[in-house]
Amino acid sequence: MPQQVRGVVARSRNAPVELADIVIPDPGPGEVVVSVAACGVCHTDLTYRDGGINDEFPFLLGHEAAGTVDSVGDGVDSVRPGDFVVLNWRAVCGQCRACKRGRPQYCFDTFNATQRMTLTDGTELTPALGIGAFADKTLVHAGQCTKVDPAADPAVAGLLGCGVMAGLGAAVNTGAVGRGDAVAVIGCGGVGAAAVVGARLAGASTIIAVDRDERKLTWARELGATHVVNASNTDTVAAIQELTRGFGADVVIDAVGRPETWKAAFYARDLAGTVVLVGVPTPDMRLEMPLVDFFARGGALKSSWYGDCLPERDFPMLIDLYLQGRLPLERFVTERITLDGVEKAFHAMHTGEVLRSVVIL
Ligand SMILES: NC(=O)c1ccc[n+]([C@@H]2O[C@H](COP(=O)([O-])OP(=O)(O)OC[C@H]3O[C@@H](n4cnc5c(N)ncnc54)[C@H](O)[C@@H]3O)[C@@H](O)[C@H]2O)c1
Ligand SMILES: [Zn+2]
Ligand SMILES: [Zn+2]
Repeated sequence: MPQQVRGVVARSRNAPVELADIVIPDPGPGEVVVSVAACGVCHTDLTYRDGGINDEFPFLLGHEAAGTVDSVGDGVDSVRPGDFVVLNWRAVCGQCRACKRGRPQYCFDTFNATQRMTLTDGTELTPALGIGAFADKTLVHAGQCTKVDPAADPAVAGLLGCGVMAGLGAAVNTGAVGRGDAVAVIGCGGVGAAAVVGARLAGASTIIAVDRDERKLTWARELGATHVVNASNTDTVAAIQELTRGFGADVVIDAVGRPETWKAAFYARDLAGTVVLVGVPTPDMRLEMPLVDFFARGGALKSSWYGDCLPERDFPMLIDLYLQGRLPLERFVTERITLDGVEKAFHAMHTGEVLRSVVIL
């Protein structure tokens, strides 16, 4: 029987989100219905609401979630009802040219549920990042469910589903930060703060956190930043160079995703250093720079999609490190809210009051 539950829906560009009744079909072949326990509010949800991703309104928002498997469709044997899972948006296909070349983190054909969740009048919903977890229950593909240790707090575990994994992986996987590296992170919201944690986990000896908001810098310091730079009153490039004996950082991570922050990342790195863009620019943004600077400075200019993670490999490992007290993921949960608090949480994100607001269901 299809189930009717509550979900947070964005109906049109820039309009406040609404709590609506939504219909979850029974899971079809390869599909799973998950009872959501917790779902973090990510900047990407706001970008969806503002029409910055695409125009496929209405969206069912929410995608940083953990929960319990409710029911499974035919052919699903990777999870069973009752399993504790973190939802992911990289259920790799194993068949595309990236997967076949042994680079599944670039999979071009990741799995999502085939059926659509709907409003009660039958209008099809577009689930954010193929998840849609600001809802009591959601329908996903079995591959989007990664089992992790159920001892983990769902509010914490869910954050691995997007922002924390994206930031941590930007440092550890994409940036390949190593022992003794100097790393700078520009923008220390949930994603950037996770990059700080990742840099620390990887053994960086200098970790410079840059933000315009003092609260973010305080949190970044608590999470492992060795130095902080307030970009609202300091020149980011000059400050990073000064903290790295004039050379620049080995890896600079742009966790904002604007032309000015990317440029700062580019010039704040050492010769042959690496820039990792993990913040998501909007389509209108442009960059104009002397081409010779790209040549003369060498190094690597990379983008990080979802921290180049493989959920099956990375989620259980990171949850284990967290449960061992080696990864302070609980610090990312600034506030616990209810489903009707998402719009307010977007505002809190804007005013810089939170690393993550997490909806508890
Ligand atoms: N690549 C991926 O796979 C992936 C995954 C999740 C999120 N993201 C993106 O990462 C970005 C960050 O997400 P978030 O949830 O941490 O957002 P957030 O809004 O919580 O954090 C952004 C931070 O950047 C700071 N900031 C803004 N402009 C700045 C500037 N000019 N200089 C320095 N700091 C500045 C803000 O003060 C804030 O602390 C977003 O663009 C989001 O869409 C990317
Ligand atoms: Zn693939
Ligand atoms: Zn996200």
